[in-house]
Amino acid sequence: PKEPLVLGIESSCDETGVGIVRGTTLLTNTVSSSMEEHVRFGGVIPEIASRAHLDAFVPTLQESLHEAGVTLDDIDAIAVTSGPGLAGALMVGVCAAKALAVATGKPLYAINHLVAHVGVGLLDRQPASKGKPADGKHDAGAAAGLGAGKLPENLGALLVSGGHTEILRIRSITDDVELLGSTIDDAAGEAYDKVARILGLGYPGGPAIDKLARQGNPKSIRFPRGLSQPKYMGTAEEKGPHRYDWSFSGLKTAVARCVEQFEARGEEVPVADIAAAFQEAVVDVISSKAVLACKEHGITDVLLGGGVAANSRLRELTGQRCASAGITLHVPPLDLCTDNGAMVAALGAQLIMAGIGPSGIAFAPDSSMP
Ligand code: KG4
Ligand code: ZN
Repeated sequence: PKEPLVLGIESSCDETGVGIVRGTTLLTNTVSSSMEEHVRFGGVIPEIASRAHLDAFVPTLQESLHEAGVTLDDIDAIAVTSGPGLAGALMVGVCAAKALAVATGKPLYAINHLVAHVGVGLLDRQPASKGKPADGKHDAGAAAGLGAGKLPENLGALLVSGGHTEILRIRSITDDVELLGSTIDDAAGEAYDKVARILGLGYPGGPAIDKLARQGNPKSIRFPRGLSQPKYMGTAEEKGPHRYDWSFSGLKTAVARCVEQFEARGEEVPVADIAAAFQEAVVDVISSKAVLACKEHGITDVLLGGGVAANSRLRELTGQRCASAGITLHVPPLDLCTDNGAMVAALGAQLIMAGIGPSGIAFAPDSSMP
């Protein structure tokens, strides 16, 4: 079909997502998160996430179908995240998708989670008549960011979440996505979560640090910007080995050491200042390297994705730096930035519309899919 009705399933981390799209139109995006079950552990526990997916899958599927006003019979194809992500968590979504495909006889598409974060930028919300009315304030009727249906020619994507920190160049969303740079250790969201733990702010750490940082002085302490030394950066002519890569584990250690020093001196730990200085270090190095990668690859449009896209300072500084470099920054509404099923369905629909055949049911989930 020209505008295939696609069901997308996402289970790579702690969100069970089922979304339905028609071509590039978003019909429903239902998400159930097990985040609260991980709070007391200070991070996502894979075993708990897997069990939660098993509990949440059928109700999430039913709700998504119900809201879209369609049945499984109406669906043209099923798409599922097959990697990267937590192995056990992926397995639940992949098994569920295979079961649905076998039971209904519908074609099944295995989807790369990271590329799906970009695919979501193609979606247009369903007209207000059927969905909830747009109130103008909450972006309810807004497209996901890039203008429905067509990607800009020189597109980049900056994906920043608890599991990934990557800058990609997208020449074709269905068959030409290039990784320009990524973290060599912790993801940015992971660094937020670990530092929040050190500062006693609880989990998830991102929102807590984002909020507290507003009361602190980002210049009070200078934390390291990983992989920013000349030996890693090189020059535009002779690029260094990690010119567009990030490292956040040294930053986390620096924060821990800083806290220890205040404690050893018997001084009160300036938590807000540390939060602000830490956030500035993360956001500074993410935005500067991402914009550099874009400039040096002729990228004119960048899509921001992942849970850390919620960060106020990241949006602000990346927006400013993109603007001075003549690059347009696209930020989808937050429910489409975080992990969800609609992005998986969106990419599935793109593959179908590009004439690419289904994956069959013999594929295995790949937790470290490139
Ligand atoms: O994309 P996401 O929902 O899940 C995956 O990691 O795949 O992202 C969650 C991450 C967590 O690490 C959380 O601390 C971080 O996004 N996060 C934030 C903010 N909101 C969520 N980090 C910084 N600032 C925020 N406002
Ligand atoms: Zn993700």
